[in-house]
Amino acid sequence: MDLADIGVTGLATMGRNLARNLARHGYAVAVHNRSHARTQQLVKEFGQEGTFVPAEELAAFVASLKRPRRAIIMVKAGAGTDAVIDQLADLMEPGDMIVDGGNAHFQDTRRREAALRERGLHFVGTGISGGEEGALNGPSIMPGGSKESWEALGPILQDISAKVDGVPCAVHVGPDGAGHFVKMVHNGIEYSDMQLIAESYDLLRQALGASPAELAEVFREWNRGELDSYLIEITAEVLDQVDAETGKPFVDIVVDQAEQKGTGRWTVQSALDLGVPVTGIAEAVFARALSGHPEQRAAAASLEGPQLSGVGGRELVEDVRQALYASKIVAYAQGFDQMAAASKEYGWDVDLGAMATIWRGGCIIRAKFLDRIRSAYDANPGLPTLLADPTFAAALDAAQEAWRRVVTTAVRIGVPTPGFSSALAYYDGLRRERLPAALVQGLRDFFGAHTYHRVDREGAFHTDWSGDRAERPA
Ligand code: 6PG
Repeated sequence: MDLADIGVTGLATMGRNLARNLARHGYAVAVHNRSHARTQQLVKEFGQEGTFVPAEELAAFVASLKRPRRAIIMVKAGAGTDAVIDQLADLMEPGDMIVDGGNAHFQDTRRREAALRERGLHFVGTGISGGEEGALNGPSIMPGGSKESWEALGPILQDISAKVDGVPCAVHVGPDGAGHFVKMVHNGIEYSDMQLIAESYDLLRQALGASPAELAEVFREWNRGELDSYLIEITAEVLDQVDAETGKPFVDIVVDQAEQKGTGRWTVQSALDLGVPVTGIAEAVFARALSGHPEQRAAAASLEGPQLSGVGGRELVEDVRQALYASKIVAYAQGFDQMAAASKEYGWDVDLGAMATIWRGGCIIRAKFLDRIRSAYDANPGLPTLLADPTFAAALDAAQEAWRRVVTTAVRIGVPTPGFSSALAYYDGLRRERLPAALVQGLRDFFGAHTYHRVDREGAFHTDWSGDRAERPA
C-alpha cells in the first residue's frame, strides 16, 4: 500500500474540506474520524478528487503516513484536543509532527509543544482562517512550532493556502504558540471589524431611516474603495437578504444577541496581561456581551433617550465611511501592537509585515487595506505604531473631521457607537503631548505613597502629603 503524504484526523466541515484541499493538490491524504461513517462518507462523496487513505483506527491512520509523519488534528479546541494529541503521540516516533489546526488557546499550545518536544515530537499549533470555504479553496495559514517542522510542512501549507499576487498566505509565524496567538489576534480584529460595520449600519439606518436593502447598496459602493474587504462584501449580501417566510429583511428576523466562541475574549484577556490597549477589540467583545443580556435590556427599555428624527442627510453616509476607515486603522494598529508585545514577551520574533501579507487572502479579515499595512512595515519594520506611518497618519488626518461629526451625531441621537468613539479616544489619547496620567500618578502617591517620576529629573519621588508636603526621593 502507498503511504500517505499527510493525514487529517477530525473530519467535521473544516477537517473534511482541508483534507479535500490537500487531495486536490495532489497529496495522498490519510483520513480518520472518531466515527468511521464520516470517513467513509468523505471517500464516497469526494474520493474522485484525489488520493484518500481512509483508516478506521488511529493506529492504522498513523501507520499509513510516510516518515516523518505529518498529522493534522481538526477537532474542536478544548479537552478533546489533549486526548487526541496523547493518543497520536503514543503512536508516533521522534521527528514526527502533530499539527493542531483548531482555534486552541496559545498557552495550551505552548504547554503541549513543550511536552511533545520532550518526547522528540514536533507540535505545530496552526491558525487556519477562512471558514469552510477557505479550508477547501485556500485558507490563510499561521503555523507556529519549530523551524524543522516548518521545513517539512511549509511547502504543503503554502501549496494549499490562498495566494495573493502569487504570494502564498502561509508563513512560519514563530516558535511554540506563536501561530495560535496570531490567529487569536486575527479573530479579535475580526470582532472589531464586524462591530464597526454593525455600528455603521445601525447609525445610518437610525439616522437616515434607510432600509437594509438601501444600506446593502451603500456597503457595495464602499467595497469598491479603500474599505474593499471580504467582511464589507458579505455585509451587503446579508443586508440584501429577505426572509422567505415573512418577506421581511433577514436582519430583522434574527435575534439581536451576538454569540462568541471565545477567541475575541481571549485576545482581550491576553492584551490585559501584556498591557496593550486593544480598545477596539474590547469594545466589540463587550458590545456582544451587552447584546446578550435580554433581561437587563428589557428592564432598561423604558429609559429616556433623545429624539431620532431629522438628523442627517446623505453626507452622513460619506462621514460614516470615513469614520469606519479611521476606526479600522486604529483597531488594526492595536492588534499589531499586541502581536509585537507578545512576540517580545515570548521571544517569538514575529514579522509583523509577514502577518499583514498572509492576511491579505483566504482569511475572514482579508482586505485591500492589509497591503498598506504590509508597506508600512516594509518601510519601517520597527514602526512604534501603525498610526505613525505616513500613509496612515495622512488617512487619519483626512478622516478626522468626519469621524468627529459621526461620533457627535451618534451621541446626539443616542445610537451607541462604542467602536467609533473608543477608537477616536485612542487616537486623541495617543497624539496628546501631555496626558492626565500625571494627575493619576499624583493621586496614587497621595493615598498610597506609590511614588512618581518628575519630568525634569531622574529617579522616583514621594511627597509627604499628610505631613509637611515636601518632596523626597523615594
Ligand atoms: C476564521 C474565523 C473562525 C471563527 C469564527 C467564529 O478565521 O475562519 O475566525 O476561526 O470560528 O469567526 O468566531 P466567534 O464564534 O467567536 O464569533
